[in-house]
Amino acid sequence: MRILKRRQFLSRMWGAGSALVALAGAWTTWDLLRPGEAKGFGGNIRTVDPRAVPDTGVLEIPAARSYLVNIDGEIRAISRKCPHLGCGVAYCESSGQFECACHGSAFNRAGEYRTGPAPRGMDRHPLEIIDGLIYIDTGTVGNGPAPGPQTIDEPVLGPSCSEEAH
Ligand code: FES
Repeated sequence: MRILKRRQFLSRMWGAGSALVALAGAWTTWDLLRPGEAKGFGGNIRTVDPRAVPDTGVLEIPAARSYLVNIDGEIRAISRKCPHLGCGVAYCESSGQFECACHGSAFNRAGEYRTGPAPRGMDRHPLEIIDGLIYIDTGTVGNGPAPGPQTIDEPVLGPSCSEEAH
């Protein structure tokens, strides 16, 4: 009698364990295949509530290798890959602009070209807001704007980060 109960118990545990493994497999499959939610760079990256993007400065999103900026209420996703030769462009707090340390290109907070060998402004990713969160489509890149008049009135605030380093 006791052995039978133990066997029943073990049988049920095996059944429950198998069901859990099947459930985990189904969850993983769904998680990987659901549209619009690829994990990691190259897919749609879930980021933050739009209200978390500051009116001034930038919000770096390392997983998307990009920055979110709020330009007069419009949120944009700017790739940190320099349009010159691909170095990572940093935002410099003291100057209030993006600066590439490789060859000195600089861009305003909207990613528009200011100076240096870059052929255009910083490239951009499309974004959309789903259930109150910003998703950056890192699989799609649009060329930054051609050099020309800047559309935002934000002068250089102070010394560039490369000047400060010397
Ligand atoms: S890679 Fe950025 S200026 Fe050359």
